[in-house]
Amino acid sequence: MSIHDETQKAWESASQKHVREYDELLNDAGTARLLPVEEAVLGDIVVGAEVVHPMSGHGIDDVALVRLGARRVRGVDYSPTAAASAQRRADELGVPCSYAVATLPATGLPDDCADIVYTGKGALIWVDDLDAWLAEMRRLLRPGGHLFIYEAHPLTPLWAWDTDRIRVREDRGYFQRTHVNDSFPAGGAVEHQRTLAETIMAITAANFEILHLAEHPDPFWRPAGMEAAAWNGQVPNAYSLLARDNA
Ligand SMILES: C[S@@+](CC[C@H](N)C(=O)[O-])C[C@H]1O[C@@H](n2cnc3c(N)ncnc32)[C@H](O)[C@@H]1O
Repeated sequence: MSIHDETQKAWESASQKHVREYDELLNDAGTARLLPVEEAVLGDIVVGAEVVHPMSGHGIDDVALVRLGARRVRGVDYSPTAAASAQRRADELGVPCSYAVATLPATGLPDDCADIVYTGKGALIWVDDLDAWLAEMRRLLRPGGHLFIYEAHPLTPLWAWDTDRIRVREDRGYFQRTHVNDSFPAGGAVEHQRTLAETIMAITAANFEILHLAEHPDPFWRPAGMEAAAWNGQVPNAYSLLARDNA
């Protein structure tokens, strides 16, 4: 089985969580907000926007985007289980979100269908060919459209879970190309790594103009009951980025 097949299988299995916890997630979606930094960076551009959310997972952020004023959100995910549970929740809440099952970078969506591509929180780490992924996002964006990312900082996989002091894992390296995920979805899923500089250079080379880039101390995800010294504010755990299509 290829790395890709192994990862997809792990996600399909892990996505059953969205079904098991359907009611809880429906409840969360009812009041969901994006993180304050996301709301601040997106500002008014989300009002009236058509948004595409690659690697949309449970889709809670899509409801939050509608709450901020998005006219429509289209999620894309290769897990039929994730897409179906997100669709059921959206329908139950009566929000204009729809979900397609597709294996990125190909989305199957039409050219020029989006004002914003919104993604992150554990999305780009599954992208093998970032150049191909960015080319697909540019194809979806209308001229002058925006790419927004709120993602794990590329240093995050290096931090150990120690609670007494920040420690760099000996089995990980910043310049490694891949590592096996051991938190969620686990199951042999393989994460792709790139440095922050490589990500920025790829986005710029794809003809996007970077409007905002910031690094943040808090992780986007804290597994229930877990604490780590690496979350004490001393080191980066996330970054936010807004870029505009330069066409
Ligand atoms: C961490 S989760 C969801 C992230 C989402 N932004 C959120 O906050 O809920 C990552 C999702 O990416 C999907 N995924 C990973 N690789 C993919 C690919 N190549 N094509 C489509 N979906 C993919 C998985 O099925 C999973 O639902």
